[in-house]
Parts: sequence; C-alpha cells; structure tokens
Amino acid sequence: MDTSAAPADTRVATRHDSTIDRLPATFRWGTATSAYQIEGAVDEDGRTQSIWDTFGRVPGAVDNGDTGDVACDHYHRMPQDVGLIRELGLDAYRFSIAWPRVQPGGRGPANAAGLAFYDRLVDELLDGGIEPWVTLYHWDLPQELEDAGGWPNRDTAYRFADYAELVYARLGDRVEHWTTLNEPWCSAMLGYVEGVQAPGRREFAAGMHSVHHLLLGHGLAAARIREANGGDAPRHPLSLAITLNLSTARAATDSPADQEVARRADGLGTRVYLDPLWYGRYPEDIVADLAARGIELPVQDGDLEVISAPLDTLGVNYYFSMKSSGVDENGAPLDASGSPTGRAVPYGLPRTAMGWEIMPEDFAEVLTRVGRDYPGVPIFVTENGAAFADVPDTAGFVRDQGRIDYLAAHIAAVVAARDAGTDIRGYFVWSLLDNFEWAYGYDKRFGIVRVDYNTQQRIPKQSALWYRDTIQRVRASE
Ligand code: FCB
Repeated sequence: MDTSAAPADTRVATRHDSTIDRLPATFRWGTATSAYQIEGAVDEDGRTQSIWDTFGRVPGAVDNGDTGDVACDHYHRMPQDVGLIRELGLDAYRFSIAWPRVQPGGRGPANAAGLAFYDRLVDELLDGGIEPWVTLYHWDLPQELEDAGGWPNRDTAYRFADYAELVYARLGDRVEHWTTLNEPWCSAMLGYVEGVQAPGRREFAAGMHSVHHLLLGHGLAAARIREANGGDAPRHPLSLAITLNLSTARAATDSPADQEVARRADGLGTRVYLDPLWYGRYPEDIVADLAARGIELPVQDGDLEVISAPLDTLGVNYYFSMKSSGVDENGAPLDASGSPTGRAVPYGLPRTAMGWEIMPEDFAEVLTRVGRDYPGVPIFVTENGAAFADVPDTAGFVRDQGRIDYLAAHIAAVVAARDAGTDIRGYFVWSLLDNFEWAYGYDKRFGIVRVDYNTQQRIPKQSALWYRDTIQRVRASE
C-alpha cells in the first residue's frame, strides 16, 4: 500500500473507541464494492451491455454525464486493489459479479473469459488470506433481459437462477459466502417506480411486480446453489444470504396522516421483503393498499415456499434515515397514489455530501428491530459508509475526519444493537475505493481509498488507516 502521501503520524482517536473495543476478536471486518461501480472495461472479453450502460447514455440521467466505461479500471488493476485490502488487514471483501460479463445477454452458456476474471479475483483474495463474499446481483441487469420486460417480467427470475448456477459452478469450491441480491428495494423502487436509477422507468405497478420477481429470483437462485452444493450433504461450506437496505420509518408527528405514511414506508421498505423471506407471506396491510389501487402481486402457487427457504445470514445495508409525513409543507394531505410513502421530513441533523442525515441511533434501532422481528440468523452489516467532499493535500492525502466520525459512530451503533441482543457478526465499510456512485457519478466519493481519476492512482485516506488501526486494536483487545 502506498502510504507515502500520508503524514508520519496519522493516528486519530474518536469518542467511540472504547465502545468499539468491546467487539469480540472474532468479529469480521471487511469492505465492499460492486462490479459496475469499479470495473470499467465494459466492452472487454465478451461483456455485453447492462441497463446501467444504457441508462448512462440517457441525457441528464447521471450527473455530469458520467458512465462506468472506465470507472476505477479495477478490471485491469485487480491484483493491486486486492493488495490494498490485504494491507488494510481486512478479513473479507464483498464484491459483485457482472452478469453481462459472465453470461452475455443474460441467457445461454457462460462466457469463459468473463468468469475467468472472477476466478482470478477469488484466488488472489484467498492467497492474501481474505475471504471472498460474492454478491450475484448488484443492479447490472443484462440489457437484453430489460428489453424482454426486466424484473416486472417473471421470466427474469428464472434467468437469474440460471446465471447464479453458472457462477456457483465455477466459484463454489472456494467461495463460502453468497449473496443473491443487493438491495432489491433500490432495484424495484428507484429503477421501476421513481426512475432515478436504471432502467429509469416510472411505473408503480411494474415496480411492485418487480418486488415479487426479485424475491422469487432470490429464492430460485438460493435453491439452485444449495442443490449444486449437494443439498443436505454439502460438499463445500456454504453460507447463503440476501442483502437489504433498511431504515426506520418514523412518523413526523403523531397525526393520523403521518402515522399512515410511516406505516406504508415501513411496509414497502422493510416488511414487504422480510415478511415473505422469513414467514412466507406478504404483509396484509400492503396487499390491501395495493388492491385498493388495482394492483395484485403476481404470486403463483409455490412461490412463497421458494422465497421463504431458510437463509444462513442476513445482510443489512444502512446509510441514513428520515421521518415521513402525510401532508405537504402547508399541511394539505398528500395524494397517496403519487407517493405512497409521503414526504420525507428531516431530523435537522448534520448531513453527508449525499444530503443524507447522519443518524447512527436509527442504525442501532434498525438492527435491533430486525433481530427482534426477524430472528434466527446472524446479521452482517454488508454496507455502511459516507460520501464527503474530500479535500486532498498537495501529496493527495485526505484527512477525512468527517468520514472517520461517521464510521466510528455507526460501528458503535452495531455494538449498541449487539448489547440489545442482536447477533451481528461483521461489518463491511462502503467503499474500498471512490467509485461510480450511480446517478450521482464520480463527484460523490465514498472510498476509504482516494482514486485520482486522471491517473488511477489509489491513495489511502486517513479513514483507511483509522479503519486498519481500529481493527488491529479490537483484535488485540481480547
Ligand atoms: C447503496 C448501494 C451501493 C452504493 C451505496 C452508497 O445503496 O448498494 O452500491 O451506491 O448505496
């Protein structure tokens, strides 16, 4: 790791250190990225287009017209990037597989050259003593599948299961940790309802159909993977998960209008995923809300059994929270058919560069609630982190105290949730590198390692060194 830009003494203390030090030495520490956000090389070795390649060419869809064409050029710099992870002393690396790289067009046989990249990545990680955590779908749907209807179309779930099997066949002998989907809420709501992420559709009913097909795809893929690993007589260690982005859904006031939208925000944000996954049923209130709008979830016989097959762990991503109000700024009721989850009302707290309020107490609450209402498996925090307007010094070093404070407060929230009885076993900081932050492009920097996009130089920020030192301290503290 090139720390030549760093000043001699980079140690920083935070007021959360003694809390964080209570984590056990067995707690797993990692960092996360996703394929489209870092890889670049979009036309190489047989990769075809994803919905993000298409969306990036829609005028105005992505800030500054940025695309993932080059991103962090990770496809060509992978060994160096794995070296960074090793030198930070991390236990695990969560990355995603680009579906259009390993199964161009989303159907048919595997593309050997595409799979070979992930094969090398896994070996490089294992050689460095780092556990690979694979996410199969982090939003880069092959464009051909979107052309055939995308996630609102049931067939996409079956295509996803086929793809999962291809990847598992190649990597399953060495990868234990498999996550089917990253944040299906974002795929459905941001991609198909709000249209602010690929594929940019604004169709509420289609978005709700996506919810079911994403969950079905998850269940079918999980079943195929288990079966490929020998079912009840597993050939290799296997831990299966899904990762959800969760938040609180507080009502802005006690008024019935605000309580009502908070209920819907919780229903559409949390329960519509976790109820079918855990209990094999959709929440009755949400089903009734949808029925009132003439929408029925496209559930077929047997789907809920597939979706609710037990998982080994649950991944939780958390960034921020806000309150919900059912009335506009002037107190007039909002039309539920426009925004069923109402108007977001801020707490009035400091914000990150994303405009997201910094609310670690709600993180502890989310984790505690999940552990209580959806018990039975260990939780891993698979993403948490913050974008700030980093200012590098002349050597390129970033003293990102704001990010350190954010991370420390949120790791301390994990400790608080553990104290409250939730079984949380690990934490992955988002992200290893500054990268393509979806519709916000490259301006929003989430990395603990700075990327100079002119030179592709990687320069660990102070937060990376702090993370490394914190992990060492926690490991030594028992
Ligand atoms: C999450 C995404 C991840 C990244 C962070 C900031 O919703 O999973 O790719 O963009 O937000």
